[in-house]
Amino acid sequence: MNGREPFAELTMHPVDARDLDTVVDTFRRMSDRSLYYRFLTGTSDPQPLVKAHMELVDGRDHRALAVFAGSEVVAVAHWDRSRARREEAEVSIAVEDEWQHRGLGRALVRAAAGDAHRHGVNVLTARVLAENGAARGLATRQQPVETAFEGAETEFRFDLAS
Ligand SMILES: CC(C)(COP(=O)(O)OP(=O)(O)OC[C@H]1O[C@@H](n2cnc3c(N)ncnc32)[C@H](O)[C@@H]1OP(=O)(O)O)[C@@H](O)C(=O)NCCC(=O)NCCS
Repeated sequence: MNGREPFAELTMHPVDARDLDTVVDTFRRMSDRSLYYRFLTGTSDPQPLVKAHMELVDGRDHRALAVFAGSEVVAVAHWDRSRARREEAEVSIAVEDEWQHRGLGRALVRAAAGDAHRHGVNVLTARVLAENGAARGLATRQQPVETAFEGAETEFRFDLAS
């Protein structure tokens, strides 16, 4: 999938609001904890949050990349350009619980960073709950240029231009 071929059975490509139902199914299979970590809030049904995010996707300032196992989406990353700072975007990512800890998050976040850079993004940010060890580990391995602690959240900044 990313050239290392650990996931020969998976494919990755951009998705948008037309794929909403498939992506909602992905989030509905996720644990409460993963949903909380992804949306930074508790939710009994992720559908409204997923719908709101997918409806932003315009292919230009807001994009989503999904990893497919057959017709199922098993991981999805979004990046959303800042209105105020056009060269900056925030990335968010979710890997279905059963697929976690296998290198998929790392592959997907790198693909999302490359995709954002090709669309003119030079600075990528990610907001992660301080208690979210997996996401902090993933972010730290990508060599952030800045790490800021704001209450329960940690914000990482990545320089895509260097
Ligand atoms: C965070 C998340 C995307 C990581 O995805 P993943 O596929 O499990 O991660 P990977 O297997 O690619 O691991 C990537 C790196 O993360 C780190 N990591 C993964 N799981 C970890 C854990 N439980 N504890 C500490 N570090 C961990 C490792 O440093 C790993 O680096 P390595 O490949 O050099 O060993 C996934 O756990 C997830 O979707 N969580 C719920 C949603 C979420 O937290 N999103 C982030 C905020 S938007």
